[in-house]
Amino acid sequence: DGDVYKYYADGEWKKSSSGKSVAIINPTTRKTQYKVQACTQEEVNKVMESEKTAQKSWAKTPLWKRAELLHKAAAILKEHKAPIAECLVKEIAKPAKDAITEVVRSGDLVSYTAEEGVRILGEGKFLVSDSFPGNERTKYCLTSKVPLGVILAIPPFNYPVNLAVSKIGPALIAGNSLVLKPPTQGAVSALHMVHCFHLAGFPKGLISCVTGKGSEIGDFLTMHPGVNCISFTGGDTGIAISKKAGMIPLQMELGGKDACIVLEDADLDLVAANIIKGGFSYSGQRCTAVKVVLVMESVADALVKKVKEKVAKLTVGAPEDDCDITPVVSESSANFIEGLVKDAKEKGATFCQEYKRDGNLIWPLLLDNVRPDMRIAWEEPFGPVLPVIRINSVEEGIHHCNASNFGLQGCVFTKDVNKAMLISDAMETGTVQINSAPARGPDHFPFQGLKDSGIGSQGVTNSINMMTKIKSTVINLP
Ligand code: G3H
Repeated sequence: DGDVYKYYADGEWKKSSSGKSVAIINPTTRKTQYKVQACTQEEVNKVMESEKTAQKSWAKTPLWKRAELLHKAAAILKEHKAPIAECLVKEIAKPAKDAITEVVRSGDLVSYTAEEGVRILGEGKFLVSDSFPGNERTKYCLTSKVPLGVILAIPPFNYPVNLAVSKIGPALIAGNSLVLKPPTQGAVSALHMVHCFHLAGFPKGLISCVTGKGSEIGDFLTMHPGVNCISFTGGDTGIAISKKAGMIPLQMELGGKDACIVLEDADLDLVAANIIKGGFSYSGQRCTAVKVVLVMESVADALVKKVKEKVAKLTVGAPEDDCDITPVVSESSANFIEGLVKDAKEKGATFCQEYKRDGNLIWPLLLDNVRPDMRIAWEEPFGPVLPVIRINSVEEGIHHCNASNFGLQGCVFTKDVNKAMLISDAMETGTVQINSAPARGPDHFPFQGLKDSGIGSQGVTNSINMMTKIKSTVINLP
């Protein structure tokens, strides 16, 4: 069956013995765009075997050679940005220009990871025993960073390429092998990206990409005894994975409800521009999107007016036309968003625009006068709908932010840097941005969430360190 994309294992493109496929629905046309193999558990077992073997010799491959291959893959990835971006447009309705940006950013991330890996893995520590009470200088301890083994990478639909390479790069430079389980929406983009690693000439079995139904291979992969580390980005599934996974390092990033706190002295034009970018880019389908605006009552009218004017200018339509607002990833996602909107309507939120939906396409919507009893005050829509809560004190804003189950990022707008620092310290989130919308990048910055937003810290350096363990050798002198 020629129109089903093959999966990648042992350095080859393969058909699954299941004879079954998984359909990928184009969010814009709502018709099947692509099909991928529905891999079986037996195939996963085989992948794990070859990953284990490949990792052993990869760990012995000189670090500079590992870096060289990653640089090569990065260059090939950037050369092939157009076809990969086209898949992103068709599979996840990412606006055309953003799709190109994702691929270029991914190439840069892989190169940066290779350089950073050479630096940080190229040095270890040397300790002597006589600094600890009761010891003579008779023990020398040498430490280095060694790979964990087989890494399982599960990226989300919103960055199927970038959030895959942010796991692949660190895993490989550190001497691990890697199994990629791409999201269904985004699987074909991921397979194309993996092909760039194939073309770069990585050893057979070092990278594999298995596609299929979560119900068939999801738990099987995450609970597989051959997996030595899981790096996951996505939603609630991550919490379930963390409960089932064995005693292995986990890196998880599971969404957020990033608050934007606006003080009376803020530059409202700057705030409005950042609310638009932060709240509506990729139609709000980013874990770091601004998901609630907490604005001081005295400047709320002025801010809402400015944001409203900018919302009116957003283009709405097909990702091929590079519209700002494009269809959300699936019908169930659109239904979920609609549920939040209806709840806000029933409970009396002020609609700054009329609610409009056509298939998976939802027009951008700003909801003013949202109150804490509304679902939208707490839940993440992952769509182009943004609530505004009016506050009467900074403490009220901080309280709302900290009452959330999430703690990914947040932002504060004020010209008073001292206030900004105090608010940053008080916000229980992994990162606070001062005078800009939340964002993960630049990709070498640490990226982490508190509470239900995740475990561990990402960013190039932290991911490399997380995918290694310390090994020490102690020389005992006579
Ligand atoms: O969706 C989660 C991503 O990690 C957010 O990345 O801030 O670059 O859009 P971004």
